[in-house]
Amino acid sequence: MHEIQTFCQAIGERDSYTMKHSMKVAGLMAGFAEYVELPGDDVTLAYLIGIVHDIGKVGVPSHILNKAGRLTAEEFSVIKQHPDIGARLLAKMDGLEKVAEVVRHHHERYDGTGYGQGLAGEEIPFFSRMLSLCDAFDAMTSSRCYRWKPLSTNSALEEIASCAGTQFDPELSRDFADFIKAQSALGKLASSGV
Ligand SMILES: [Fe+2]
Repeated sequence: MHEIQTFCQAIGERDSYTMKHSMKVAGLMAGFAEYVELPGDDVTLAYLIGIVHDIGKVGVPSHILNKAGRLTAEEFSVIKQHPDIGARLLAKMDGLEKVAEVVRHHHERYDGTGYGQGLAGEEIPFFSRMLSLCDAFDAMTSSRCYRWKPLSTNSALEEIASCAGTQFDPELSRDFADFIKAQSALGKLASSGV
């Protein structure tokens, strides 16, 4: 665990947005794992995966990572290496082989057109499919992402619903929407703009 904190600090030094994003994704992952009634060890694993999922961004130059404008094709191809870089780093740590595989596939899409190894459907590890939902939801509802204005919770869920079966696992997408609505009703969502 100590090594994980060190990894987090390393990415925080480079990119404070990614560190905050990783912490929020970890909270969503653990909450979602609990909501779908995974066993306690898997809830812990889900949290850990959220924390380290973008660790490979330490291998992406800052001027690309923090570029405000549109990325060139070449810059995007560098960004696309972060799941592999992260997986390689994590695979070197005892006991994190499974986490490494989840990280390697966190930008796959359900229809097989994502980046990574082009896995599709249930070939994509279960936790990677959970992670792509939590990752996208946080990116859409946070102030720094692909848009100037963060989406409201409802709009982000609509977006996820419209990408169920293409980008996201359709069944998990429904579970995720139920989880977020339940969190929202309890006032537990960090970004609760509806
Ligand atoms: Fe990522």
